[in-house]
Amino acid sequence: MSETLKAIVQRRSIRTFKPEQITDDELQTILEAGQFAPSARNEQSWHFTVVQKQDLLSKINNALQTVFLNSGNPGLIERAKAENFSPFYHAPTLIIVSGDEKAIAPQADGSLALGNLFLAAHVLGIGSCWIHSLRLLFDTEAGRALNQELGIPAGYTIIGSGAFGYNAGAAPAAPPRREGTVTIIK
Ligand SMILES: Cc1cc2nc3c(=O)[nH]c(=O)nc-3n(C[C@H](O)[C@H](O)[C@H](O)COP(=O)(O)O)c2cc1C
Repeated sequence: MSETLKAIVQRRSIRTFKPEQITDDELQTILEAGQFAPSARNEQSWHFTVVQKQDLLSKINNALQTVFLNSGNPGLIERAKAENFSPFYHAPTLIIVSGDEKAIAPQADGSLALGNLFLAAHVLGIGSCWIHSLRLLFDTEAGRALNQELGIPAGYTIIGSGAFGYNAGAAPAAPPRREGTVTIIK
């Protein structure tokens, strides 16, 4: 199997991170991979916001805790009460991918970019995980107030985000693949 195919099969979502920051070179390689994803009519409708500043990571964490607590969802409320609450698992780097609402397919473009970020990270020995709850943040007043601080361009919507850092735990086993998800017609 080629190294590329091996990386695709072996990448896993990582949820425990060392506090040590990834290097700037590694970050640039990951971001370049994101920017080389395919996009509808080559619009490259994404924007990448990298947050490595501890103050801002804490601010995002606190705002998300409030969103979870006020969600009315028992599972989210329970998680928010945890002493060590962090929906991005205390990762030292968070990359938020937003997309131009006027583009043809911002959700698809941004998701493909996120997929490339995760694969590139894996190849570099860096753990990563898609963090969806960032989107909830921007449904609230407090969250929207962070938009400007995060440099998310006007008219862009959050597609998703990724937590990145060196894995502090064992490499997780791949969850079994679901049967019956392929139809081949020839
Ligand atoms: C759209 C999307 C949203 C996800 N949201 C979260 C999330 O908020 N938190 C989390 O821990 N994992 C999240 N994940 C990661 C999935 O749980 C993970 O990809 C899945 O369990 C398969 O595991 P694997 O990535 O190791 O193959 C998300 C993945 C996708 C594609």
